Amino acid sequence: MSLKTGLQRIVLVTGANKGLGFEVVKKLAQKSSSNTNPVIFLGSRDLKRGQEALHQLGSPPNVHLLQLDTSSEKSVTHAINEFKQKTNDQLDVIINNAGILPKDDSVQAARETLATNYYGIKIVNEHLIPLLRDNGRVVNVASQIGSIILMCMSKDLQNKYTSSTLTTKQLDRLVEDFLSALEFNNLKKAGYPDDLHYLAYGISKAALIALTRVQARQYSDGKNIFMYSVCPGFCNTDINKHAPGTRSPELGADSILYAVNTPNDKLENGAFYFDGKKLPEICVNKAKIEGLIKLTEYLRAST
Ligand SMILES: NC(=O)c1ccc[n+]([C@@H]2O[C@H](COP(=O)([O-])OP(=O)(O)OC[C@H]3O[C@@H](n4cnc5c(N)ncnc54)[C@H](OP(=O)(O)O)[C@@H]3O)[C@@H](O)[C@H]2O)c1
Repeated sequence: MSLKTGLQRIVLVTGANKGLGFEVVKKLAQKSSSNTNPVIFLGSRDLKRGQEALHQLGSPPNVHLLQLDTSSEKSVTHAINEFKQKTNDQLDVIINNAGILPKDDSVQAARETLATNYYGIKIVNEHLIPLLRDNGRVVNVASQIGSIILMCMSKDLQNKYTSSTLTTKQLDRLVEDFLSALEFNNLKKAGYPDDLHYLAYGISKAALIALTRVQARQYSDGKNIFMYSVCPGFCNTDINKHAPGTRSPELGADSILYAVNTPNDKLENGAFYFDGKKLPEICVNKAKIEGLIKLTEYLRAST
């Protein structure tokens, strides 16, 4: 049965059963008491965890659960069919928030990370962007770690990742080249840093920032839609094991929602934002590498 949505904005948030995605849904659901409240789909890969999240929100009538595992094409197809039936093929905002940190530095963990943080988002976008209404937008939750990792790559790789003519096919190739360099112990020669833990996470976020720019260019040709990547900042959630020095998930959600709610003519299509400020794709602050090393040491020590 389809929902009566009328003029309401329809928003999908992936990975929203906890952490930043949950905060985003909470803030969107509280946004106004008028009948133009958005209709929100709370994405969760696990049905039970999604139901618990919905319950924790007080089961607002405008929030609906959608089981969606972004790393599985089967789950994506199934969820999208369900979504289409419920919304009559309409959508205004996709917030690609689901993300993981690799369990360790293995190739297997790197593949899993890229499947969720890069390929999963690419597939969700390919299926859902055609449903976006005029002025629709996509917000991809990336991380400044992506821009720090880019700073640590060879000039040649930096140029490839940030090329204004980059295509999704070439970007997939870059991601596959990274995985094979990791597998064959060839990182340094291939232009990647070989002394950083959780490198696959940084690569996944660098690729996501690039994907946002590439897909923004690709899709704005035929349609009035906008895409942004955002960093929520270093926030107190499970992904970083509630590391010291984090800020609140509420602030992280605000950084994401800035890209959701700011008029499109005040933002640059395809660009990367943090707390409402546009950031360069390649970080220019070398001191940030030190912070990243400290964080990876903390994460390794707490596993
Ligand atoms: N927290 C930070 O400091 C920080 C900084 C920069 C960027 N980010 C990014 O912010 C996003 C949200 O992270 P968070 O901090 O809120 O972490 P979190 O608390 O660990 O939440 C991650 C969410 O993503 C879901 N998820 C993971 N893999 C998924 C998949 N294949 N399909 C669907 N959902 C999946 C998780 O579901 P389960 O509960 O089922 O595992 C969970 O709901 C991530 O993309 C992360 O990389 C976070």
